[in-house]
Amino acid sequence: MQNDLPADAELLEVVKLIVKSNYTVILTGAGVSTESGIPDFRGVNGIWTKDKESEEYAYHLYELFLKNPKTYWEAILDSDSRYGKFYKILRNAKPNKAHFIMSSMEKEGFVKSVITQNVDGLHRKAGSKNVIEYHGSIDKLKCINCGAKYFWNEVNFDKLPPLCRCGNALKDDVVHFTEPIDEDIIENSINEMRKAELVFVCGTSTVVYPFAALPRIAKYKKRPAVVVEINLSKTVLTEDGISDFLLCGMVGTVLSDIYKQLKKISNYHQLKDTSINS
Ligand code: OAD
Repeated sequence: MQNDLPADAELLEVVKLIVKSNYTVILTGAGVSTESGIPDFRGVNGIWTKDKESEEYAYHLYELFLKNPKTYWEAILDSDSRYGKFYKILRNAKPNKAHFIMSSMEKEGFVKSVITQNVDGLHRKAGSKNVIEYHGSIDKLKCINCGAKYFWNEVNFDKLPPLCRCGNALKDDVVHFTEPIDEDIIENSINEMRKAELVFVCGTSTVVYPFAALPRIAKYKKRPAVVVEINLSKTVLTEDGISDFLLCGMVGTVLSDIYKQLKKISNYHQLKDTSINS
């Protein structure tokens, strides 16, 4: 950890690393969307920090779908129910400056991909192209029997649960606790970590596995990536010495500062000639 440096100097170090890195990946969690009005889960104002029962409820959602898909769907479509309320917030949310800056950094070649735990689809809405939605997205429905995926407007909701062409009940394409994650998603994410020279970990408590293993994979490989956390506070990654930098603050604000400095650096090509490990 290099946080013996003053905050401004640390930020500048990180900006230089972005310029030098040939492969930068951003990992994101609920903290990236709090500035869009979506509460996180375990933060100070997190849904589960305030209401322990709703965490318990979340642990049983997949089981509920398997046992009674009709009741599951009634909960989603009822904006007064616990799950329905959350869905309504997600559906109405708009990308914030953190999402837009990440998307600009991808367009400008500073970032290769974003891997997000968020199901709100806001990275795609902000224009990011290479996005892995690790826990799925509310924008689609999936059949856990045949794997088919649908957009909401392709599905008939007259009778619940909505059905797949194969006859099985459709589920929203969101991964709940105990629900399997697509093999491709796991594999592609690990590959991104293998290639990464620089990994940002933004607005996540990194306690939910297998996603939480990603920064550790990047750190423990033969040529370790530099890991930079952006968070309001320390996390288990900071405590375990996985992160090389912790930039403390709102992710939108910290990224704006980084992006401004990135634009200011004029000797970009000169820096690029030196490797990230030099
Ligand atoms: P958490 O709620 O666990 O963590 C959010 C983190 O973001 C905390 O460490 C906060 O300090 C930080 N944070 C909040 N607002 C921030 C801001 N504006 N700027 C910087 N940091 C901020 O959310 P996740 O780590 O994303 O999974 O949770 C992981 C998974 O747990 C979720 O994807 C969800 C949940 O179970 C499923 O639903 C399967």
